[in-house]
Amino acid sequence: MNISRRSILKTLGLSSLALTSAQVFGEISPVGDTPFPDGDDPLFWKKIRDQFPLTKDTVFFNPGTVGAMPRVVVDKMVEHLRYISEHVADWAYKDDNKEEFISGYNNLMSIRTKVANLINATASEIAMTDNVTNSMSYIANGITLQPGEEILTTDQEHSGGKGGWLVKEKRYGAVFKTVAVPKPAHSPVEVYDIIVKALTQRTKVLMLSHMITGSGAILPIKEICAEAHKRGIFTVIDGAQTIGQIKVDVQDLGCDTYVGCFHKWIGAPPGTGFMYVKASRMKDIWTTVASGRWDNHEDEGFRFTQRGTGNFPVLKGLEAALDFHNEIGPEKVYARIKFLGERLRTGLRKNNKVKIFSPTDEAMCAGITVYNIEGLTGTKIQDAYWEKARMRPRSQGDQFGVRHCTHIFNSPEEIDRALVVVNELAG
Ligand SMILES: Cc1ncc(COP(=O)(O)O)c(C=O)c1O
Repeated sequence: MNISRRSILKTLGLSSLALTSAQVFGEISPVGDTPFPDGDDPLFWKKIRDQFPLTKDTVFFNPGTVGAMPRVVVDKMVEHLRYISEHVADWAYKDDNKEEFISGYNNLMSIRTKVANLINATASEIAMTDNVTNSMSYIANGITLQPGEEILTTDQEHSGGKGGWLVKEKRYGAVFKTVAVPKPAHSPVEVYDIIVKALTQRTKVLMLSHMITGSGAILPIKEICAEAHKRGIFTVIDGAQTIGQIKVDVQDLGCDTYVGCFHKWIGAPPGTGFMYVKASRMKDIWTTVASGRWDNHEDEGFRFTQRGTGNFPVLKGLEAALDFHNEIGPEKVYARIKFLGERLRTGLRKNNKVKIFSPTDEAMCAGITVYNIEGLTGTKIQDAYWEKARMRPRSQGDQFGVRHCTHIFNSPEEIDRALVVVNELAG
């Protein structure tokens, strides 16, 4: 992707400082049409790190729970909050779709279009929600299942991904079934075979994480969905951990629905999510949170987006986060995340007291690494990281150690320092 230097500087808030590109990028400053610095250029990534207000004496390794916001995101939110507080009297309620005082009535076309572009969908297939739990609940509650019809998923789904389906089971007599997936997984073929063998004639819904939260395993969604569709099964993909971390192309994946959030890997404010439903499957999903458009199918995404008064400043922050991601370049972001994750895993593999639960096949990994150190628990490792190095990965309990995420605000030096901590703890 060809990104103009001016647009990057604009989003990063650097152009307003009236710095020349040489001042901003120093030695690596491109001249004329020289391409933007490579993904592994340390000076470029240092400039990116500087865009995050994240305190400099701490190292954040937990965007798998909630991400770090770049400064532009915070500024946009605060600016819009101030705007609505000062100008709410100006609002004449003439055209809800153009007003930005409250969300939940506005069709949010600008943001939905950006989200659609990110995942290769159309805006009418996108609804804005607060998070993955909401999106998944809208789908589980909105789809009609008869008693005895089965929902199949893995044994490693997040409670926010499976909760809506458990309600479906208890309330409507649908059957919630799980199939065990190895941890660590060894290959896409292994996972494919396990899941496809568990499909039965009663399976009506297949719900899978695109990336497993507790291991970082990227599942072979495209191949599994192709097989599920041959059997007439409705496919629902949980993308809580993928959006902003790896490329997501819903056309290529071929899934019926895909749900995700922006508060983990895109750097958007907490409380920002979406739901994608393929146009041809939209009518299969009843509205759950219903307002005036609950049965209006002109713009299906709007039907679900219209959910009553919501927080527009948060959406302004989301839009800024999407712009930030796009202007750096999604491919560059994904490559950097993977580069850092692989550096961590390579270092961990050198220590035989470390057990890694992320896939043994690097092709199934990106920025999430889950590991334990012989004789320790997740809490012990998490606490030791903080005490020794002010580093913040997240405990995964007694058995699975810690989940250690790498993102664009991290550096190779931080990974290397983390490996020193691990080697010390392993003795
Ligand atoms: C795979 C998965 N699904 C669902 C969720 C819930 O996401 P949210 O908090 O956005 O509802 C998470 C959160 O970590 C997750 O990892």
